[in-house]
Amino acid sequence: MTIKTLSLVSLGASIGLAALLAVGSAQAAEDAHATPHPERQSWTFAGPFGYYDRAQLQRGFQVYREVCSNCHSLKRIAFRNLAEPGGPQFSEAQVKALAAEYKIKDGPNDAGDMFERPGRPSDRFPPPFANENAARASLGAIPPDFSLLAKARSYSRGFPLFLIDALPIPGGAYQEHGPDYIVALLNGYSKEDDPNYNDYFPGHKIGMAKPISDGAVDYTDGTPKTLPQYARDVSAFMMWAAEPKLEERKRTGFNVMAFLLSSRACSTTRKSACGPTSPTDRSLKRNEKAPETGSFLFPVIARSEATRHSI
Ligand code: HEC
Repeated sequence: MTIKTLSLVSLGASIGLAALLAVGSAQAAEDAHATPHPERQSWTFAGPFGYYDRAQLQRGFQVYREVCSNCHSLKRIAFRNLAEPGGPQFSEAQVKALAAEYKIKDGPNDAGDMFERPGRPSDRFPPPFANENAARASLGAIPPDFSLLAKARSYSRGFPLFLIDALPIPGGAYQEHGPDYIVALLNGYSKEDDPNYNDYFPGHKIGMAKPISDGAVDYTDGTPKTLPQYARDVSAFMMWAAEPKLEERKRTGFNVMAFLLSSRACSTTRKSACGPTSPTDRSLKRNEKAPETGSFLFPVIARSEATRHSI
């Protein structure tokens, strides 16, 4: 590609981007009437080198356990996941003790009866309600399961901004709308006289009355016991629950990018720099006979000719 074509392509791209931004901001202004956009938080797990802050995940789990788990299930997570790399990384002993505090329904036994036993690390978190109807009957609305919620509740920045969010450019590739939304939601109960009014919930009337306030959970590591802190910690925990393998995925993605970039560098530098180096490679290279015609079709024809002659 010549420099001229390159500059034409980049000019085209910038014009396209500017147009997208212009339409996007009009759309954003329209959306703002309905519900404000959650503020962007800075998360350790954002970006290509993202990782979870272990202490934050442990605090977030504490908030989930002591407050949210009274209504919200966490069906896809087993106790032992809490000890795995890339997660809150509680010790095996802590997880065993934690699991044993729960009663798990099991069975049937030899007599055909269901029974309860203490939890084991391989068990999943038992749900607070037997089924959705029981939850609705008790709360008036169904509390969604926490397993995937942080990824399912990505608030939309509307077309075409969601395209920009996906671009691998600074400010692009943003995938943390879900945790941003949850932080905003928990901090968004703005009417003292209406515990179900929330600035950030679509339509503003949410079936979950303000679930947590300052001082509700007793952190032991000196972290402030405030609502904004609880909101950030539990959102980070929910992000982990929705994507427990995030760190692994980001590492793999980075390695693939590095590999692609290095192979691209090889193909643009002199062949000898990246060509075959081992003796085997070299001999393989020597034995390869390029077809005299120079076309990739001819070796096939030449081989079939040879077969015909030998018959
Ligand atoms: C007393 C029960 C209860 C508790 C405790 C509770 N929730 Fe909820 N939650 C609900 C119900 C019910 C809904 C469904 C609301 C609706 O659809 O209107 C809900 C919905 C949600 C939603 C989804 C909102 C949406 O966009 O649909 C989030 C996120 C959430 N809760 C987070 C939390 C967090 C975090 C905690 C703990 C700090 C928590 N909840 C504690 C009952 C509860």
